[in-house]
Amino acid sequence: EQIEKGGYEHFMLKEIFEQPKSIHDTMRGRLLVDEGVIKMAGIWDHVERFKNANRIIIIACGTSWHAGLIGEYLIEEYARIPVEVEYASEFRYRNPIITDKDVVIAISQSGETADTMAALKLAKEKGAFIYGICNVVDSSIARITDAGSYTHAGPEIGVASTKAFTAQLTILTLIAFKLGKHNGNLGNADFMSLIAELDAIPKKIEEVLNTTHELVQNIAKDFVNATNFLYLGRGYNYPAALEGALKLKEISYIHAEGYPAAEMKHGPIALIDENMPIVIIAPKKGHYDKIVSNVQEIKARKGKVIAVVNKGDQQVSAMADYVIEIPETSECFSPIVASVPLQLLAYYIAVYRGANVDQPRNLAKSVTVE
Ligand code: AGP
Repeated sequence: EQIEKGGYEHFMLKEIFEQPKSIHDTMRGRLLVDEGVIKMAGIWDHVERFKNANRIIIIACGTSWHAGLIGEYLIEEYARIPVEVEYASEFRYRNPIITDKDVVIAISQSGETADTMAALKLAKEKGAFIYGICNVVDSSIARITDAGSYTHAGPEIGVASTKAFTAQLTILTLIAFKLGKHNGNLGNADFMSLIAELDAIPKKIEEVLNTTHELVQNIAKDFVNATNFLYLGRGYNYPAALEGALKLKEISYIHAEGYPAAEMKHGPIALIDENMPIVIIAPKKGHYDKIVSNVQEIKARKGKVIAVVNKGDQQVSAMADYVIEIPETSECFSPIVASVPLQLLAYYIAVYRGANVDQPRNLAKSVTVE
């Protein structure tokens, strides 16, 4: 096992550090920047199905569902196809309206999640075209779907999903750009600059790992005894906030909630006092001014702010108690980059609390029962 961990203390840390490679592997052979092409046979062979879809429904659970929410932002922004995102467990039992004009995308690292599988079967019975985004080759979901794209993240052993999540985001980004280019909603110049930027994401993740690892480790020490955490983000980073909170809950057993930052004033603001740590994702591109006022509201109530900002940031950084800098990207890529320090934060808080990071209590790697 020590050899498998490649010198890291836990699989989770190894998997966090593998992300430059797993994202690169997921794009390999698909993203051909020089030719200005995204090659995805699963999409291309059924492109008319996607093009003529009334809507796309994304079904998933847990972390994969968070990836699905970001998929909704991506596909609606770049391909202008309406997207709904559903928890598989809700979808399967609520008699949903599905027709043969719908495309259903299931996202699952393991490809074995019982609720996702059952929801897919239901969608298939009702005539929808079903597409899978799985990490495990030849898994049950990969086999039942009409088509799909594998994430090439490699085996993920840590129960808390990290590299599979960013690989899922990579696939969803490729799908959104490919569909947008095909249906004319994403012009050639924008397409070319977005794919060049996507191609450089593994390098940016590497930079984030190098520049934030030690810093986040030190920040974590200050929060070992925290009992609650709030995670806030807007737009693309709202699901990233949900995912950051889930990571912390799963492995450190600290209660954490993710929220869209603007929803704070509709309830969670009542929780804020000097004992409440608040992780806020505040990149330059993506409602920055609104986030600045959210941080002002938090500081007025003495909340402890851990801010994930872009390099050189001033306004949020001046108010935050802790600042984690990440490189600037177009808004659609920021959840991939911002998720990395949040994974590290959850990891180190859990380690300092003496928790079993790779196999947290009560959790299984794949949930094959209801
Ligand atoms: C992730 O950290 C969790 N352990 C869990 O939420 C997981 O994402 C969920 O069970 C879905 O699993 P899947 O992607 O294998 O379907």
